[in-house]
Amino acid sequence: MLILGIETSCDETGVALYSKEHGLLAHAIYSQARLHADYGGVVPELASRDHVRRAIPLLRKVFRKAGIECVRSDGVAYTAGPGLMGALMVGAAIGRSLAWAWNVPAVGVHHMEGHLLAPMLELDPPAFPFLALLVSGGHTMLVEVAGIGRYQLLGESVDDAAGEAFDKTAKLLDLPYPGGPELAKLAERGDPERFRFPRPMVDRPGLDFSFSGLKTCTLNVSRSIGRSAQNDADVARAFEDAVIDTLFIKCRRALRETGLTRLVVAGGVGANRRLRKRLRGLAAEEGGQVYFPRPEFCTDNGAMIAYAGFCRLSMGQSEDMTIHARPRWSLDTLEAPVSLARG
Ligand code: KG4
Ligand code: ZN
Repeated sequence: MLILGIETSCDETGVALYSKEHGLLAHAIYSQARLHADYGGVVPELASRDHVRRAIPLLRKVFRKAGIECVRSDGVAYTAGPGLMGALMVGAAIGRSLAWAWNVPAVGVHHMEGHLLAPMLELDPPAFPFLALLVSGGHTMLVEVAGIGRYQLLGESVDDAAGEAFDKTAKLLDLPYPGGPELAKLAERGDPERFRFPRPMVDRPGLDFSFSGLKTCTLNVSRSIGRSAQNDADVARAFEDAVIDTLFIKCRRALRETGLTRLVVAGGVGANRRLRKRLRGLAAEEGGQVYFPRPEFCTDNGAMIAYAGFCRLSMGQSEDMTIHARPRWSLDTLEAPVSLARG
């Protein structure tokens, strides 16, 4: 069983082939970062148009990389949401149309389900149940995962997502888009002792997050000390430490409250080197285990969509001829695939 996965929810075109027998056969990503850099953020209309340009050549490339001559699969998975409407429509229309032409089933995958299942593509995948920390540009969530489609939202950001806070703070420091990795690089040269920013919402019970205040804090401190390479690095370090420490504290609380021992970390911010190190330490302290996708599968990619689609299609889920695109779609409204729900 061979599944084609297509991701076009934001500014990365991702395509992958996942096989039941051999796992991930090939994948390719095209990042639009340079296209949007001049604007300091993603321009939705440009994103949609670029997905149109990139998707089919990328698809051909993936089949070539996999050594498969006949461009055809046994099922198609595409990201149906959440994301930018126009961008989603491109992947959804291509995916649904290919499935129709090949007379095979198609499934519209929830982007965040893709992220949280991404560690399953690694050599030592986590077993269910686990706690998932999803930290991307659009979402920050703690989710109790009992199985495919069995997700309970434990906490989320009440304002900016962690990645969004990284990006906006990077912009304040005049770093190029996308800011998260650039800010992390700058923070490496920063003095961790110079400033201590607040850890928002850790003194209150609960597992929600709030990151927008840290952006304001960065702006105020940066204005009061003035701009220099070292000042910027010190402020970046204080910001990054505050975000990482907050995520650490909330993950520890969630593990203790749920009694879960396995922690999965996914989404773009999951590529952050210092976050990975801190959470490895947490797992060791708590006697549990932490699982990350490889860094290139933390950010958006087609492999996670192919895998999530494979899980759902192989458990009997498939959809009608409608092209599904849902820009807003809550993860905890998902259901287990039919065969699981019955069992
Ligand atoms: O999951 P993702 O690729 O897209 C969404 O679904 O949103 O996440 C992108 C986010 C961006 O905000 C980006 O700045 C952030 O992940 N990011 C990072 C790092 N790499 C990517 N943030 C902090 N440190 C990084 N190393
Ligand atoms: Zn994402």
